[in-house]
Amino acid sequence: MPTIPITPNDRVFVLTGAGISAESGLPTFRASDGLWAGHRIEDVCTPEAWQRNPALVWEFYSARRLAGQQAEPNPAHFALADLEARLGDRFFLCTQNVDDLHERAGSTRLLHMHGELAKSRCEQNCGRPPVQDRTIYRNLAEVGRCTCGARLRPHIVFFGEIPLDMDRIQQQIDRASLMLVVGTSGSVYPAANFVHWARMAGARTVYVGPEPPLNASAFTHVVEGRAGQALPGLFTF
Ligand code: APR
Repeated sequence: MPTIPITPNDRVFVLTGAGISAESGLPTFRASDGLWAGHRIEDVCTPEAWQRNPALVWEFYSARRLAGQQAEPNPAHFALADLEARLGDRFFLCTQNVDDLHERAGSTRLLHMHGELAKSRCEQNCGRPPVQDRTIYRNLAEVGRCTCGARLRPHIVFFGEIPLDMDRIQQQIDRASLMLVVGTSGSVYPAANFVHWARMAGARTVYVGPEPPLNASAFTHVVEGRAGQALPGLFTF
């Protein structure tokens, strides 16, 4: 297995996708047994789906909450928490995942660009902050209300909505000298563009996953392997 040197001057930006949680038992999106199997994306993960059938959307995300709560972080999540402990504020983690396995492994400098399963927010965007919410809803009548009176929706960024904190993400990418991307197919934008932004800023770019992503040609290194095996021991200091 190759190793990637990290120098005292390096700043590391990490982007993770569903593949990093695969070894924790959470299915990826685009695998044949993926989460969308049995559900068309437009039925559960778009603003239109929410307008049309909020009960189905909450049924889908309640099932994902349950699966997320039953999963445990794997060696890949712990390897990134260890890397952060070593690098401090020279480390930044952006995840597309909505589970909390990074936090539970010990990561703190992280941002969930597609939202978080463990939160809900106002469906009217009234401006009040999201609330912690791990409830597994059995029907729409159980779903709570924002203090403004509107129904709570999942904190998840639906298809067609703008990912969270893009300004902060852009700033962190501009400062990074090494971008590490783990377990994402490179098929969902803007995340699939991050590697291009990093290259333009002069960074080395490393991908880790069992198969090359769609944007593989933008990486300076592609490490083919499962994250839980490849990440621990990948870096030298
Ligand atoms: N280790 C690392 N990578 C893995 C592993 C593993 N053990 N198992 C699978 N993978 C890789 C697959 O090869 C694939 O490239 O994980 C990737 C998963 O790809 P997707 O299912 O497309 O997931 P992701 O890229 O995170 O999806 C992006 O799409 O539906 C939306 O909002 C959702 O955040 C999600 C976004």
